[in-house]
Amino acid sequence: MADTYLWHPFSDMAVVRQDELSIRRADGVWLWDDDGKRYLDGSASLWYVNVGHGRQEIADAVAAQFAELGTYNTFGDITNEPANRLAQRLSELAPMEDARVFLTTGGGEAIDTAAKLARRYWAAVGMPSRQHLISRIAGYHGTNGFGTSLGGMEANRTAFGALIPHTSYVLHDSVDALEEEIRRLGADNVAAFFMEPVIGAGGVHLPPEGYVQGVAEVCEANGVLLMVDSVICGFGRLGNWFGIERWGVEPDLITFAKGVSSGYLPVGGVVASWRVAEPFWSEPGTTLRHGPTYSGHPVCAAAALANLDILEREGLVTRGAELEGVLADALTPLADHPLVSEVRAGIGLLAAVQLEPTTLVPEVYRRMRDHGVLTRSLGGAIAVSPPLTVSEEEIDLIGSTFRAALDETLESDAGRMASPSGVTGGRP
Ligand SMILES: Cc1ncc(COP(=O)(O)O)c(C=O)c1O
Repeated sequence: MADTYLWHPFSDMAVVRQDELSIRRADGVWLWDDDGKRYLDGSASLWYVNVGHGRQEIADAVAAQFAELGTYNTFGDITNEPANRLAQRLSELAPMEDARVFLTTGGGEAIDTAAKLARRYWAAVGMPSRQHLISRIAGYHGTNGFGTSLGGMEANRTAFGALIPHTSYVLHDSVDALEEEIRRLGADNVAAFFMEPVIGAGGVHLPPEGYVQGVAEVCEANGVLLMVDSVICGFGRLGNWFGIERWGVEPDLITFAKGVSSGYLPVGGVVASWRVAEPFWSEPGTTLRHGPTYSGHPVCAAAALANLDILEREGLVTRGAELEGVLADALTPLADHPLVSEVRAGIGLLAAVQLEPTTLVPEVYRRMRDHGVLTRSLGGAIAVSPPLTVSEEEIDLIGSTFRAALDETLESDAGRMASPSGVTGGRP
């Protein structure tokens, strides 16, 4: 196979350079590669094709917008109708009063916007010492500057030299750990706490009972902004618009991306509560000197609006909650497999199966793929997060394919060498 010129994200190019899987087309939850082989999209690409593939309605909305206004910026007083409409619609859907919306082209840009906005907010209200940003071990917030620094997976921060100062991490499942960290730093030095409702790319970690309400109370008691990263959890993945509604807490900031456009075009952004927006919206001269060129891109906004229409009309927003039990039922039985140490599922349409030994993840992933189910490897686990349009039968197919791949791996040379008990042949 010819060498590739495409540098793949998060990929070992020494391996991938001659071993790419080229996806040719897609429809619904199905994908086809260049050779015509069919795969079930068990990960909704990267947790984002919430409405499924091949939506003509989004293509039509994009084409119509291209024909009218293909591109223009929104700096200064310039705007366009789709960007305004999208901002208003997201503000109305968000679980905050009178929120304002800053648009970006993805989650990483949204995180950097939220981090700068949090610090800038405190400077604007006369408390510039509040700079410190706390995030969670195992959390994932993208690969831009702040997102890299706030990411709770050490490997993703390593070998990039000095990162952004005044950031730190706490255990992902402990309210006390957050409280202790704020006490250590001094509340007057802390700007915001960044958290995903359910940690996604860091391994699918569900919040323990009471955790989300607990950290919200700690933030409120200490004046710390609660920044909820809903890039994966939003737009139906947890069964509501921004994921966080399940716990009834009111964040100060929310980042979103992925499912807002189902990835058909790059859209992301930050929802800012009125508390955070107010100094900028009321005080002339208090300017957020920050903004990516394509913020409020009219065609991207049109794609997002069409996607929101589909989510609403087809009742897909609640689907993540409706299917969470089905997904858990399909994957939880795998916990008895000799190569599985844990199955994490039960909140929303996302789950992870943790393997032991973790070195077998590539083999199990590859075998599932050979059987026509595409998933996502996450370090020691394999994640599942299909489009919200997936059927119960298709979820069962993911489960049975998973078991077949695990059994085959156990019987393979690698599996026999790695299996602690030497047990072969499926269930112990
Ligand atoms: C929770 C979370 N935040 C931020 C990001 C970064 O988004 P993007 O890859 O669009 O920059 C991701 C991406 O997976 C994410 O899962």
